Amino acid sequence: MIYMDSAATSLLRPPEVIQAVCEAMQRLGNPGRGAYDASLEAARTVYQARKEIGGLFGMDDPSRVAFTANVTEALNLAIGSLFGPGSHVITTCLEHNSVLRPLYRQERRGALLTILPCDQAGRLRYEELERALRPETKGVVCTHASNLTGNLVDIRSIGTFCREHGLVFVLDAAQTAGVFPLDMERDCIDVLCFTGHKGLLGPQGTGGLCVRKGLELDGLCTGGSGVQSYRKEQPPGMPERLEAGTVNVHGIAGLLAAVRWLERTGISRIHRRETELMRRFWQGVRLVEGVSVYGDVAVTPAENRAAVIALNIGDLPSGQVCDELAQEYGIAVRGGAHCAPLMHQALGTVEQGAVRFSFSYFNTEEEVDLAVRAVKELAKAAGSVQENV
Ligand code: ALA
Repeated sequence: MIYMDSAATSLLRPPEVIQAVCEAMQRLGNPGRGAYDASLEAARTVYQARKEIGGLFGMDDPSRVAFTANVTEALNLAIGSLFGPGSHVITTCLEHNSVLRPLYRQERRGALLTILPCDQAGRLRYEELERALRPETKGVVCTHASNLTGNLVDIRSIGTFCREHGLVFVLDAAQTAGVFPLDMERDCIDVLCFTGHKGLLGPQGTGGLCVRKGLELDGLCTGGSGVQSYRKEQPPGMPERLEAGTVNVHGIAGLLAAVRWLERTGISRIHRRETELMRRFWQGVRLVEGVSVYGDVAVTPAENRAAVIALNIGDLPSGQVCDELAQEYGIAVRGGAHCAPLMHQALGTVEQGAVRFSFSYFNTEEEVDLAVRAVKELAKAAGSVQENV
C-alpha cells in the first residue's frame, strides 16, 4: 500500500513508538496510585511526556499539560469550559467539526458565535476579525491548518489580536503539531489542543491540551485522580483538574518515544521533506486536464502550508476516485466530506467532496510519482468517458 492519508492518522511511524507501547504494556502500572516500581515508573513516564510535549510548544510547566483521548476531547473541554451562555466567540470557516460542533452546542446553550469567512481558495479573510469584535467577545478558536486544503492560518496575528483585546485564544493544532514550530508565548496561545496520532507520530487514543498559567478550565469528567480522595469535587490543581480516571499510560509512553524521535530528527527537517513531496505531487497534477486542485496552492505557489493536496477529477464522485486509487493502484487517500462542512461550502465541493492526498516524512518520491501517474490515468479515463457520452 502507498499510504497518503497522514492527515487522518500517521500510519507510517518510527518503530520505536510501537516498541515503547509494547514495553509500557509489559512494565508500567497505574501512575500515581502506588509506591512500587511499576506505578512509579508509569508516573515518571507520564510526567516526562508532559514535560517534553509541553517543551515542544514552549510550555515550561509540565503540570499545565493535561492528557485527553484525542484533540476532539481537548477542544470540547476548552470550548465547553470557556464559552458559556452570553459569551461571544469567534471562529473560522476552515474548522473541522471538532471545533464547529462543540461551538454549535455552546450556541444552543446561549453563547453567540461568529464564523469568519474565507475566499474561494479557502484563505481566511483576516480583515473580518476586527469587525467581528463585540463587547461580550470572550475568545477565538481556530485551526492552525485546514485538514481539507492544507491552508495555514496566521496564528501569530490572531494570537496578537487576542492578546491586544483581552481575548482567550484556543488553537486546534491537530494538523500541525509535530510538523510546524509552535510556541504558546510567542504565538500568544492560551490553550493549545493537540492530538498524538498525526504529526506527533504517536498512537491513537492520545492527545491533550496545554493551558497557559493563570487560566483555569473545568474538566469534562470528574472521578479518580489518585490525590485528595476525600474531596467531593475534582482536585483544583493541574493536571488532575482536567484528568479523571487512569490516563492512557501505554499510549503516552508511545507518544513520548515519538516526540523524542521528532526532536532528534528535527521538526524543520520533517516539514521541509513533507513540503518537497507535496510540491512534487502538486507540480505533477496541477495542469492535468480535468483535475481541479483546491486551496491556496491552486492560486499562489504557497510554501507555508500543511502537506495536503485536495483535488477532484472532472465531476467524478470523490469516493469513487478514492476506491479506484485503492483498488487499482494500492494508494490510500481520503475522499468524501472531510468533517469540514464550511470549507466544502466555500470550495463548492459539498456534493462531490474531495480527494485528499496528505504526505508524510516517510513517503518517497517514487510513491509520489506513482500517485501522479494514477491521477493522470484516472483523469484521462474520465475525459474519454465524457467525450463518448
Ligand atoms: N480529522 C482527520 C482527517 O482530517 C480524521 O482526516
